[in-house]
Amino acid sequence: MTATPHLLLIGTHEPWDLDLIAPRFTVHHLDGGADPASLDEEVRNGITLIGLKGHAPLGGAYMDLFPKLELIANYGVGYDAIDVDAAASRGIAVTNTPDVLSGDVADLAVGMLIAHCRGIVGAEAHARSGAWSDGAFPLQRRMFGKRVGIMGLGRIGHAIAQRLAAFEMDISYWSRAPKPGAEAWRHEPDPVALARDADFLVVALAGGAGTVGLVNGEMIDALGPDGVLVNISRGSTIDEPAMLDALESGRLGGAALDVFAAAPDFDPRFKVLDTVLLQPHQASGTVETRKAMGQLMIDNLIAQAEGRALLTRVN
Ligand code: 8YV
Repeated sequence: MTATPHLLLIGTHEPWDLDLIAPRFTVHHLDGGADPASLDEEVRNGITLIGLKGHAPLGGAYMDLFPKLELIANYGVGYDAIDVDAAASRGIAVTNTPDVLSGDVADLAVGMLIAHCRGIVGAEAHARSGAWSDGAFPLQRRMFGKRVGIMGLGRIGHAIAQRLAAFEMDISYWSRAPKPGAEAWRHEPDPVALARDADFLVVALAGGAGTVGLVNGEMIDALGPDGVLVNISRGSTIDEPAMLDALESGRLGGAALDVFAAAPDFDPRFKVLDTVLLQPHQASGTVETRKAMGQLMIDNLIAQAEGRALLTRVN
């Protein structure tokens, strides 16, 4: 029997992924955020592949504990938790799972915006609790036809714009340069002007050092007391204390958030605000998409093990 490559799975992977992985690899498990030095040195020395799920940082010191490491296959499109430069300087490849999740993430962004405008969560409680017998649910706010600004027009931002176009919305976007294929929408080079001229601002930026706090206090104030901020990207892209201050004082109308600066233990100040809609980082969380993400992560691991070209390499 030939030896199978040693794979470290970080985080909790789905049973269907484990079924595909089991026959091909010798698997070792580590909880996300757990100390990799807790693994036996002999085990660490044998590991050539990592399948990473979760958002705990994976930097150069971590990589150095695995001297034969060849590939970190990330389960997710955003790989901001991985120090990609540190990986490159050690000759370690990094892959992600682009495209397969864009539709579901865009669906949730649109769903959150509709839910926020129409008060769907509160309206459900109104019907279920019997409060309806005492009076009609208060009138809410229209979404279709309004002005939306999209921060970041990558694959996910593009999918959001396509969907919002069907809601007859006036669509503008910010990205460092105008995007090919986005001619139907207005490129706005100034993020503050994007926020000022929008009813809703949807953040679809990639995470990482280049976008930390890009949505800052000035943008939040420009969006204003009637504006709604939607975030399905990374908590780091918004100045969260500035957003909380603006929500609490009413300088920002509302927010619909799938991601936070810290998660799952996000800032408790959010929980007492009735102008926010909170989601548990579930934008890619459908069975269909998670199966496709798992398959792509595994296909990259197999490609590396067989010495073939990686499918979605990022470094
Ligand atoms: C997570 C995500 O990967 O793709 C991304 O960048 O943030 C998500 O799809 C998923 O929640 C598993 O951690």
